[in-house]
Amino acid sequence: MVYEPESVWEFSTTGNITFGLGAAEELEAVVQEYEATNVLVVTDEGVAEAGIVDEVIGPIESGEYTVYDGVEPDPALSTFEEAREVATEVDPDFVVGIGGGSSMDVAKTTSIVHEHGGDILDYVAAPTGRGEDVPGPGVPTACLPTTAGTGSETSPVTVISLPDEDLKVGISSGYQRPNVALVDPGLTVSLPPGPTASSGMDALCHAIEAYVTRRYDAKPAPASRSDRPDYNGRSVLTDQFARSAIEHVGSGLRDAVNNGQDLEARRNMALGSLMAGISFTNAGLGATHAIAMAAGAIHHTPHGVTIALTLPQVIRHNAASAFDRYAEVAELLGEDTSRASPGDAAEDAAVAVERLASDVGIDGGLSTLGIEEDDVVHIAERASTLERLLAGNPRRVTKTDLEEIIRRSI
Ligand SMILES: [Fe+2]
Repeated sequence: MVYEPESVWEFSTTGNITFGLGAAEELEAVVQEYEATNVLVVTDEGVAEAGIVDEVIGPIESGEYTVYDGVEPDPALSTFEEAREVATEVDPDFVVGIGGGSSMDVAKTTSIVHEHGGDILDYVAAPTGRGEDVPGPGVPTACLPTTAGTGSETSPVTVISLPDEDLKVGISSGYQRPNVALVDPGLTVSLPPGPTASSGMDALCHAIEAYVTRRYDAKPAPASRSDRPDYNGRSVLTDQFARSAIEHVGSGLRDAVNNGQDLEARRNMALGSLMAGISFTNAGLGATHAIAMAAGAIHHTPHGVTIALTLPQVIRHNAASAFDRYAEVAELLGEDTSRASPGDAAEDAAVAVERLASDVGIDGGLSTLGIEEDDVVHIAERASTLERLLAGNPRRVTKTDLEEIIRRSI
């Protein structure tokens, strides 16, 4: 056969997801289920100072626990190595990640590297790393998100910053999915308005990019099952989660930012973020994430804000290749597109995203993050190398297209 299209899709997610107010209190029971007696908790100072770790870990009476709270935003390789050293000292039989994507990522990779040994870079894709496969499951791990955005609790991927080289690299393996996700909207109540807004826009982008990404059967078949990428294209299942995620974020984000104690809004956001994570970690992402990853690596711009300021122009670039899908996005965000032409309905999606971002305090363009005209070519060049993300973008996107999108987002 000259060309063989993919004909099946795979769908994987975290083995156990426990959701709702009070889910975090079930951590002790989870630790007992795994008959663990020596728990390593990975978190950041902010979460520890907010009392969240004490609250969640305090009741664990069944064994020892050690807290590593050295995780910073966009954690560097040195942080992953530090956490790993703590694990070597403690030799945990259970790992808990509490925090945003950064803390959960460090927890997930610590679990793998502690179990299998070797260097962290062994598991990072070449050319930066040695690209070895993770050989099997790590130390049993639970993740408890304290933001509603990254979806790391459902993801096989962790992101590692190499700040000296202005580079972000990743480890991707199904064995990095945690065994358990305890998603408790109560853990997000103390998150300030700024991070609530930026992580929420990130979740919205995960859902929108997953909803418009290339279909699984519009890709070539892999040589074997093990060659099928984690991001294997959108399917009927990822669509369900993406649609519901867009609705939940659209209805919850403004209230969650304006009143952090609005539990209904926090619940919608926690659910929206979770479902967006379940969707995109199977379907894939697109050009917004390629640009945000490149800008984040080079200029250290915050991920969610970069995403929020870039997504509208990516929608406008992509619109012609996915009019119907973007019209549905607009409707899910509350726009009335019944009388609009397909092109206008897709434009409504871009406008709805801009309005939501602006309503939660994110506007003004990428220039507010220090990105200028002179930076455009460099960011576009870097973004154009992120094949894993761009492969799913519904419209072909060249380096010149990326430059134009970034320029319009400034
Ligand atoms: Fe993201």
